[in-house]
Amino acid sequence: MSHPNDHAAAFTRFGVEPYTPTIGALIHDLDLRQPLDEATRAELRAALARYEVLFFRDQELTPRQQVDFTRSFGEVAEVKAFFPRLEDQPEIEIVESTAQRPSAASNWHSDITWRENPPLGTSLYAQVIPAHGGDTLWASLTAAYASLPAAQQAYLETLTAVHTWEISGWTEYLLRKDASGEELRAARAKYPPVEHPVVRVHPVTGKKILYVNPTFTSHIKGLKRADSDALLAQLFGLAQVPEFQARLRWQPGTLAVWDNRSTQHYAVGDFFPQHRKLHRITITVDKTF
Ligand code: SIN
Repeated sequence: MSHPNDHAAAFTRFGVEPYTPTIGALIHDLDLRQPLDEATRAELRAALARYEVLFFRDQELTPRQQVDFTRSFGEVAEVKAFFPRLEDQPEIEIVESTAQRPSAASNWHSDITWRENPPLGTSLYAQVIPAHGGDTLWASLTAAYASLPAAQQAYLETLTAVHTWEISGWTEYLLRKDASGEELRAARAKYPPVEHPVVRVHPVTGKKILYVNPTFTSHIKGLKRADSDALLAQLFGLAQVPEFQARLRWQPGTLAVWDNRSTQHYAVGDFFPQHRKLHRITITVDKTF
């Protein structure tokens, strides 16, 4: 009889320790400061597709080294519109909360699904970690889809959803930054709502993914508003099922990389007014998705 962890043996370039039976893996025996050969990078990409979020502990990386490592998973570019960036490493966004400016992305979302080609993934590296609290959760939308009855799966495959940043907090954020409304108008013109199938197929695993999230999915096309709201409420609730989740306790030196196609994430907002700061890099679109 096979053991649920046997599949970790498929990886030869580093150690893999599954984090939960459903989602996540701790990756051991890799110093991310060193250049990685192509065989190792290919295994990392395979591990990401399989486990959906990877955790690396005790890494000491400069911003440049985080960028170089993140390139193992795909191209890195300036695809995100709104966050502050590191001055001399503009691929890195600063995700920061201070006593003066408390903030956390405490809402379930996949990154930037309001773009026609959302990012493949993200790397997030601890800079300042609260003494307690400030964890991040990820949910597997592969597991969420698989949990649904076959008849509902088939129905969902016929549907298309509309995604827009305007239902998130970005409208208020842009108005705070520029009360004239100029930035808001420019963002509206540049990033109109987009459509995505409600069920998508992962290009590496071939598995089906439930592709709606409460931060950016406004409605399902062709349904009455009340029906769309009721269906989306049911589907959004699946990210909250503990059996589909991994919860990361950050430590100094922790780096996480997630597959943005098959997961949602949530930053737990329980640490204010402690300081929390992470460096985030977005891995650009996978045109096969
Ligand atoms: C994010 O939503 O990209 C940031 C997650 C976090 O702050 O833990």
